[in-house]
Amino acid sequence: MVNPDNLVFKIIEHQSDDYKKAVELRSEILRKPLGLAYSQEELEAENKQIHCAAFEGDRIIACLILVPKDETIMKLRQVCTATDFQGKGIGERLSLFAEEIARNKGFKKMFCHARKTAVPFYQKMNYKVISDEFLEVGIPHFQMEKTF
Ligand SMILES: CC(C)(COP(=O)(O)OP(=O)(O)OC[C@H]1O[C@@H](n2cnc3c(N)ncnc32)[C@H](O)[C@@H]1OP(=O)(O)O)[C@@H](O)C(=O)NCCC(=O)NCCS
Repeated sequence: MVNPDNLVFKIIEHQSDDYKKAVELRSEILRKPLGLAYSQEELEAENKQIHCAAFEGDRIIACLILVPKDETIMKLRQVCTATDFQGKGIGERLSLFAEEIARNKGFKKMFCHARKTAVPFYQKMNYKVISDEFLEVGIPHFQMEKTF
């Protein structure tokens, strides 16, 4: 059982211990199933990005990244929830936490490259599909966006 009162949503610092935990979770959920791994260069390039995580105690159970594209448009990427916490509303709560951060910084639009399997998850949060299907990391994706 997840007690919603025990969950904490936070921004974490690039290269911090929490960031390393988030990379482990991303690796487990997003990369290993595709036979892929992060390179040092890829992770170093994330230093200007905004890293958000959901914690239960010391454990990161979901995380995502925000990438400012210009003054009004924010990209949402690398959204994932630990397998044993999926389907409990945590991905949605973390995404809404991230949206709040973007909105408070004056951004007007969020977009993401959604895996085809995750499209219904974003649709629940009112993201709309705005592209044809395309391949990224070898699997089908759609661009989706939401205007605040
Ligand atoms: C996709 C993912 C981030 C969703 O996170 P989550 O914490 O499991 O999602 P939530 O429990 O917050 O789901 C919110 C709503 O979306 C729905 N939903 C979530 N994933 C879904 C899916 N793959 N298909 C259909 N509906 C889905 C949930 O049923 C829930 O709906 P409800 O409110 O009617 O019950 C998570 O399942 C995950 O990490 N998947 C593997 C990695 C991945 O695909 N990441 C997305 C990359 S674009």
